[in-house]
Amino acid sequence: MTPEKRLLVTSALPYANGDIHIGHLVEYIQTDIFVRFHKLMGRDTIYMCASDTHGTPIEIKAGQLGVTPEELVSKYNQEHLADFTKFGVSFDLFYTTHSPETEHHAVAIYEGLQKSGLIYTKDVDLVYCEHDQRFLPDRYVRGTCPKCDAEEQFGDNCEVCGTTYDPTDLVEPHCSICGNPPVRRMSKHYFFQLSKCKEQIAGWIDADDHVHPTTANWLKGAFLDGDLRDWDISRDAPYFGFKVPGETDKYFYVWLDAPVGYIGTTQKYCDDKGLDAADYWKSDDKAEVVHVIGKDIAYFHCLFWPAMLGHSGYRTPDRVQVHGFLTVDGTKMSKRTGTAVTAKTYAEHLDPQLLRFYYASKLGPTNADLDLNLEDFVNRVNADLVNKAANLASRAHAFVTRKLDGKLGDADAEAKPVFEDAATRFEAIGEAYAGFEFAKAVRLISEVAELGNKYFQDRAPFHVIKDDPEEARRICTAAMSFVKVLAILLKPIVPEMSARMERSLGLGDLAWTDLAFDIQNQDLAPFERLADRIKLKAVQKMIEAQRVAHEAAAPAESKAGADDGPWTPKPVADEISFDDFAKLDLRVALVKEASPVEGADKLLRLLLDLGDHERQVFAGMKAHYDPADLQGRKVIAVVNLAPRKMRFGVSEGMVLAATSPSGVFVLGTDDRALPGAKVS
Ligand code: 2FM
Ligand code: ZN
Repeated sequence: MTPEKRLLVTSALPYANGDIHIGHLVEYIQTDIFVRFHKLMGRDTIYMCASDTHGTPIEIKAGQLGVTPEELVSKYNQEHLADFTKFGVSFDLFYTTHSPETEHHAVAIYEGLQKSGLIYTKDVDLVYCEHDQRFLPDRYVRGTCPKCDAEEQFGDNCEVCGTTYDPTDLVEPHCSICGNPPVRRMSKHYFFQLSKCKEQIAGWIDADDHVHPTTANWLKGAFLDGDLRDWDISRDAPYFGFKVPGETDKYFYVWLDAPVGYIGTTQKYCDDKGLDAADYWKSDDKAEVVHVIGKDIAYFHCLFWPAMLGHSGYRTPDRVQVHGFLTVDGTKMSKRTGTAVTAKTYAEHLDPQLLRFYYASKLGPTNADLDLNLEDFVNRVNADLVNKAANLASRAHAFVTRKLDGKLGDADAEAKPVFEDAATRFEAIGEAYAGFEFAKAVRLISEVAELGNKYFQDRAPFHVIKDDPEEARRICTAAMSFVKVLAILLKPIVPEMSARMERSLGLGDLAWTDLAFDIQNQDLAPFERLADRIKLKAVQKMIEAQRVAHEAAAPAESKAGADDGPWTPKPVADEISFDDFAKLDLRVALVKEASPVEGADKLLRLLLDLGDHERQVFAGMKAHYDPADLQGRKVIAVVNLAPRKMRFGVSEGMVLAATSPSGVFVLGTDDRALPGAKVS
C-alpha cells in the first residue's frame, strides 16, 4: 500500500435480479471495513459499486414478470442500496452497469483489444430453442448426465459426478424455459485471444502482492500451468446488454462489461465531482485500485480482467482480495432450512452492527470459508462487544452522570502504565486493518477493552467515591479515555456504535490521529445505548421467519413434485450378467479427509484410505454433507473406474450413495470392516 496515493476500492457488482443475503454481506462488510479504515486514516479513498445488470437471466426474468429489464434492474438497484445502507455499507457511489459511462469504456476496451490484434471471430455450434427463438446458454439446457444418469443436470457439467460435456451430450436435453428439445445452430461469435496474454497475466499475478499466495497458487495450478482458452465475448440477440460495435444483433457477454462497471461507476462519480477518472484507471501514479471478490469469480478478476485492461491502454489493479464462502453452522446456506437469511430479514430481527462485528472477528486475508456458527455468534458478540467495550462505556458513563454531575476532570496518574500497555497495540491494529486481517484487529481491540475494564474494576471508583469523590472522578476520566480510544479502534467495524460512543462523550467525529488517552475536563452528553446482548432465541426466531418467508415466496418450488403423487423408486434397470457385475471392484474406504472444492458448488474432495494406498475422489455431496461428518466414516468406493480429469484435479473412483427426495446418503459398512476390504 502506498498511502500517498488515492485509493479506489470495489466490491463485486451484485446481479440485479435477487435479494442480498448474509452470504453476500461477508464481502460488502469486509470491503466497507477496509474502506472505513482508510478514510479514518485520512486517506483519499472512494468505494465504488453498481448493479450488475446484463445477461440472459435478467432479460428472461423481466420477460416472465412482464416488465422491461430496465425496470427490473432499477427495482433491485434501489432495494440493494437500501439493504446495504442498513448494514452500514457506505458506497461513495452505487451505480449501474447499464449506463452510458460503462458502455463507453466497454467499447473503448474492446477497440483497444482489437487494435492489439486480440479479437477474432469464429462460427460456433450452439444450442438453440426454436420455440423461444433464442440460443440457450448452458444453464438453460437441462437433461440427464450421459455418464452417471443424474437427472436435470445443466448443459455444461454434471453437478453429481463432475463430468464436463457439451449440452448436446445430455440424454433427453430440454430447454429449461419451455421444456422443448433444442436443436443445434451455428453463429458467429467474437473471441478475445486470452491464449496470447498468458505471460502478461502470469507476470501480473506474481508481482507486488496482487493476489494472496493461496489464490495465486490455485490460479497457476488450475489455469496457467496449461494453455489458456480464448474467451467467447459475444452473445446473440435477444440479450440485455451493449451491442458489439458494427453489429445489429450481437452483444457483449455480460462478463465482458460487468467489471468495466467499476470504471463506468468511477467515471460517473468523477464527472459529478469534477474529477478525472483517468487518474484512477489510466495512470499508476495517482491511485491504487483494490477489488474485493469471492473465490468463485477469482478467475474472471485475476485472468480475464488484467488481460483486458493491460492490452487496451488501461491500468491493472493493485490487489484482488479474494474471500471464501459463508456457511451457517458448518453447512451451505439453505432456503429450505431458513439459513439463507436475507439482509432484510436479518435487519428486521437483529442489529446489523453485530453481524459486522462477528464477520470481522472471523475474517482473515485468505480465501478460507467463513462459518456463521449461530451459537458462537451469540456468545462472541455478547462476550467481546457487549460485555467488554459497550459495558465499560455504559458503566463509567452511568457512574459519572449519576454520582459526579456528568463532569470529568484530570486523568488518574495511576492509569498511565495501563494506557501505555494498551497503546502498544495501536500500530498492529492499523496494520491488521490494512492487511485485511480483521480477526487479528478484533483480538487486539478486545485486549484493549479488557485492560480498560480491569483498570476500572481494580480502581473501583464506586468504593473510592465514599472517601474521595475527586479521585473517583479522576478514575472515571481515565476510563473514559479508554472509551474514546475504543470508539476510534472499533469505528471501521461498528461505525454506528462508535458514533454513539463519541456523542455520549460529548466529542465530534474522531480520526485515527486522535488516538490518544487524553480525555480531560470533558462534560458528558446523555448516554446513547450502544448494543444489547443477543439471545439465541432471537437468532432462531429469525431463521424460522426466513424459512417461512421462503416457503411463502416459492410454494411451487418447495412443494415440487407434490402434484406428481408419492415418490417411487426408479424402475429396475436392464438385466446384466454376473460377469458384468464382477467387473466392478468395490472396496471399503475410510474417509481420511473431506473438504469443499474451490470453485465447485456441489463437490467435496474426499481423500480415501484403501488400506494399502490413498486416493482422491470428487463427490457431488456438498449440499448433503458437512465435510466434518464424512471424515472418519467408512464408505463403499468403486476403485476400478477409469480416473477422470476434472477442473480441480483427477478423480480416482466413486463413492456409492443412495438418492431419494429425503436426501443423498453415502453407503457405509460395519465399522469393523478394514479399509481396502473387497465388497462382494
Ligand atoms: O458473480 C456475481 O455476482 C457477479 N455479478 C459479479 C460481477 S463483479 C464485476 F466483475 F462486475
Ligand atoms: Zn424453449
